[in-house]
Amino acid sequence: MIGTSGAQTLSLERSPETGRIALTVDDVSMIFARGNTSVHALDRISLEVRDGEFIAVVGPSGCGKSTLLKLVTGLRPPTGGRLIVYGREVTRPRGDVGIVFQSPVLLPWRTILENVTLPIDVLKLDAARGRERARELLALVGLAGFEKSYPNELSGGMQQRAAIARALVYDAPLLLMDEPFGALDAMTREQMNLELQRIWSASGKTVVFITHSIPEAVFLADRIVVMSARPGRVLRTLDNPLPRMRSLDDMLHPEFGMLVREIRGLLGGHVAVGESHGGRVDW
Ligand SMILES: Nc1ncnc2c1ncn2[C@@H]1O[C@H](COP(=O)(O)OP(=O)(O)O)[C@@H](O)[C@H]1O
Ligand SMILES: [Mg+2]
Repeated sequence: MIGTSGAQTLSLERSPETGRIALTVDDVSMIFARGNTSVHALDRISLEVRDGEFIAVVGPSGCGKSTLLKLVTGLRPPTGGRLIVYGREVTRPRGDVGIVFQSPVLLPWRTILENVTLPIDVLKLDAARGRERARELLALVGLAGFEKSYPNELSGGMQQRAAIARALVYDAPLLLMDEPFGALDAMTREQMNLELQRIWSASGKTVVFITHSIPEAVFLADRIVVMSARPGRVLRTLDNPLPRMRSLDDMLHPEFGMLVREIRGLLGGHVAVGESHGGRVDW
């Protein structure tokens, strides 16, 4: 594991330009047609994310959180409204957005290093430079020495860290994370939260992070977007006053508990939160 001094040598290091808007979600709606019926997934979502900001999105299962991230990636267009990433409307997938899913989806026949350089191969970028960068990133996520290992030789938490390195390898300034730690045990998950805070702070990335866990959202985020049940709307966006860098002990602070309770209250009655993890509720 490397500290901040090691991270300073990384080429991905940059200072976020204060005030610059990374992502604008402007009155976005999404209705999926399903045979004769349709599913109204998102209803007029508006949201602005500043460059370098860490935003968490919480909401009941099925309220359209993953849909929102997919729309940001440009994999499909919204049925209403528009999305703007760094000043340009999203009309197709592009290189300035990295994504991490709930499961690490590493290719079993490629080494960890080869998995991390996959986007470099796919985007046909400079391979030598990509390998160098992948090594730096593997060190950043605490996987130095595992370059030649195969995914099945690593624990779930380590695989997820490799997936994070992969999402960072082409230096997309905006990182989308869809419940990336949902499948991990509680202790590994806490460690990953600490790691992610460190990586975010060292890299200056803008992060949109979806989670089922309210404490996880409060631990990580500068602001927390609370969504309603489907059709997903923004119920409220809360500022998180807790100072950085946060430690796990900060979760015991009264202010931490108050924010968790406030969000839980907003979601009240939405017992479906946690549903997609076999009924387990993460708080
Ligand atoms: N490709 C799709 N086709 C049809 N319906 C979809 C599609 N993707 C998502 N949905 C529906 O949209 C709603 C929101 O889904 P999703 O964004 O995955 O919710 P969440 O991530 O908040 O759990 C759900 O009812 C889901 O079934
Ligand atoms: Mg989802």
